[in-house]
Amino acid sequence: MQYTTLSNTDLRVSRLCLGTMTFGFQTDEAESNAILDKAFDEGINFIDTANVYPLGEDLSRVGVTESIIGKWIGGRRDKVVLATKCGSAMSSDPLDRGSSRRHILKSVDASLKRLNVEYVDLYQLHHPDHETPIHETLEALDEVVRSGRARYVGCSNFTADSIASALGVSAARELQPFVTIQQRYNLLAREAENNVLPLAEDHALGVMSYNPLAGGLLTGKHIDQMQTEGRYGKGRGAQIYRDRYWHDGQLETVRDIVSLANQAGTSASSLAVAWVLANLTVSSAIVGASKSHQLADSLAAVDAPLNPELKNQLDSLTDRYRPTVPSGPLTESGQKRS
Ligand SMILES: NC(=O)c1ccc[n+]([C@@H]2O[C@H](COP(=O)([O-])OP(=O)(O)OC[C@H]3O[C@@H](n4cnc5c(N)ncnc54)[C@H](OP(=O)(O)O)[C@@H]3O)[C@@H](O)[C@H]2O)c1
Repeated sequence: MQYTTLSNTDLRVSRLCLGTMTFGFQTDEAESNAILDKAFDEGINFIDTANVYPLGEDLSRVGVTESIIGKWIGGRRDKVVLATKCGSAMSSDPLDRGSSRRHILKSVDASLKRLNVEYVDLYQLHHPDHETPIHETLEALDEVVRSGRARYVGCSNFTADSIASALGVSAARELQPFVTIQQRYNLLAREAENNVLPLAEDHALGVMSYNPLAGGLLTGKHIDQMQTEGRYGKGRGAQIYRDRYWHDGQLETVRDIVSLANQAGTSASSLAVAWVLANLTVSSAIVGASKSHQLADSLAAVDAPLNPELKNQLDSLTDRYRPTVPSGPLTESGQKRS
């Protein structure tokens, strides 16, 4: 396993982070434990979850994923960097959602209880909340850190402008700044290269890339027939994934990626994860699994970095998934910061 340091923190994390949104939905507790054990045994020390997981059928089971992790973690706590998120709707109650002070303070206590820990290493906003002033949210997150309930804070699914603006507010008010961002980033979704990754590079933010396999599409297993049992076939996430990636153009690109992988003697999954990790602005790729053996291809990607020629071929093949008009900071993403 390779490790990197998240931003200017003391968190030394594996370049693969284990995503857990399948736990309690696609995987029962025993299979979830098997995935956690496999990841931990292979040196993955970074776990990402959220209060709203599992992905599931509806909101009736929110919190189950954190509870599964809480039962597993036990004596491993000091060896794991634990990240969770808040802000999503946890029920139909309008007070039970968002990034208000009230909801953040309630959410963090509930997460700590389910996770069976005294603190999380990273507490993230799952997405922006346009109804709460950002200073209120940042003050609440600051309180969470000062009270010892989280070590650092981060955000997910924010635009470059909203990240920059939040960093400005936390600096001006001497509040805990975001040290990480969590964004969708893979061969079929390269928008982040346009301005979010350059911003992260400029501010030395840690970057966690989610959906590195496009929810499984980049394994190649869907190109001839969409699987009905997994991510694309089942639950409240299935339609999101079909809308996001299940289009002729993307399927054609995946076919080409599979063919490149065959020529290179590797799997499309390994190639896709290796491509994400080749962008050194990305600290960790958050890989998901519905069975423990699925982690093998992602683990292989860490041991077999992409050669520059293959990286160039993949860059050209998927260039259309990167917006053509760059905006925002002028630095190049994809180059290592010191
Ligand atoms: N911040 C956010 O808004 C956000 C959004 C999404 C995800 N995330 C985080 O990122 C994590 C990872 O996201 P993701 O699960 O979408 O990542 P992903 O790695 O793109 O997709 C994982 C899925 O691909 C399939 N798969 C993986 N390896 C495979 C293999 N070797 N062979 C065949 N199928 C394979 C499995 O689905 P099937 O077996 O069902 O086909 C697996 O659940 C999540 O768990 C969560 O922690 C965050």
